[in-house]
Amino acid sequence: MVQEIHKVGVVGLGTMGAGIVEVVARAGFAVTGVEVDDTALKRGRAHLERSLAKAVDKGKLSEEERAGILERVTFSTSREDLANADFAIEAVPERINIKRDVFVDLDRICPPGAILATNTSSLAVTEIAALTNRPGKVVGLHFFNPAPVMRLIEVVTTVVTEPGVAEVATEMAKRLGKTPVAVGDRAGFVANALLVPYLNHAVLLYERGVASREEIDAAIVEAAKLPMGPLALLDLVGLDVCLAVMDVLWEEFRTPRYAAAPLLRRMVAAGLLGRKTGRGFYVHSDARETAVQPVGGSVKLPTPPGTPELADLLLAPHIDDALRMVGSGYATADDVDTAMRFGCGYPTGPIEMLDERGVASVAETLAKVHPELAPGAVPASSLLAALVAQGRQTLR
Ligand code: 3HC
Repeated sequence: MVQEIHKVGVVGLGTMGAGIVEVVARAGFAVTGVEVDDTALKRGRAHLERSLAKAVDKGKLSEEERAGILERVTFSTSREDLANADFAIEAVPERINIKRDVFVDLDRICPPGAILATNTSSLAVTEIAALTNRPGKVVGLHFFNPAPVMRLIEVVTTVVTEPGVAEVATEMAKRLGKTPVAVGDRAGFVANALLVPYLNHAVLLYERGVASREEIDAAIVEAAKLPMGPLALLDLVGLDVCLAVMDVLWEEFRTPRYAAAPLLRRMVAAGLLGRKTGRGFYVHSDARETAVQPVGGSVKLPTPPGTPELADLLLAPHIDDALRMVGSGYATADDVDTAMRFGCGYPTGPIEMLDERGVASVAETLAKVHPELAPGAVPASSLLAALVAQGRQTLR
């Protein structure tokens, strides 16, 4: 069935959409990228051209390959140009009214057999599917930022996905050169449900004055060898995107671990969204460097005695979140590790981190974390408690 996919449509050419167009065209598909107006279209095209030029400069792509890729891409401001798309991917802003507008159109315009995919990171795929007359052919295809680099695609199916559709979407992800992980439609899917609360936790520690932004980021890069520290990563992903993920996690699970840090919410309200607006936790433009003001009081409480070091303070709850997810039956240990390695560039996934450090060590670290420094993270998950009770050192 996948062999029949020749023409792909991508709606929305922001950072993610333009990256997705690049991935699709590089994989040899003809792709039409659609934006709302000429200005947005120009920006999307410039993003693609810049990325390809960088690849040519680095010797990763030949001039002929670049020309071939650009030849396969058509830019348009009319969704009607997707009338013969076999597969459409939506990557517009995370607001349901905008998604509704796009999906109602895609449903009307694309051939009846075409699969419609959403790159949503925070909305329910089921809700988006229900906007169409073909809910069984609507799936999530969740890419990671930067889309041309990160190897994971979460393939999200819903309770109404038709037989065979997940297989086509999975095959499509493979043909795009990515590693697919199949997930059900639950808030945050696998990767964001683990990554974003950990990023939010870093904001809480920063807000509380436990450490500076540089200290927090350096501690994680050094201790866990993650490619970026959490505050730098927030700036890359977009604080608004992370806040939206926190809010859907909170809506779905109502646990204090998923309560957004007040500072995160205020920074979004102030337009400090990260790289895309030139300023987040760091400054990414010529704008004057000014420290972000904490929210909620100027008196810094001392860190409770016995508190683990900085990286462990962030990582022990993060590892336990992964165990809680595995224990809930939502994802396997392998899926969790694959998602974090290929989606977020972790050298080892959180369950591998547990197995390396040992169950007892992670449990002891977590026990030392004062609840005020990690709301909702202690007590430990029932799976961690069970592993400790059984005297196990690893999960696998
Ligand atoms: N587009 C295309 N290629 C890019 C790129 C971009 N925007 N940014 C970096 N690259 C390429 C570079 O050209 C380089 O390619 P090469 O190895 O072939 O020369 C390679 O990626 C490495 O880039 P750099 O050397 O410039 O920089 P780093 O080695 O520091 O890597 C990084 C940058 C890939 C962003 C790395 O820091 C990383 O993996 N960070 C973690 C990113 C992450 O966690 N993403 C997931 C966020 S969650 C998400 O997106 C889900 C959403 O729903 C919230």
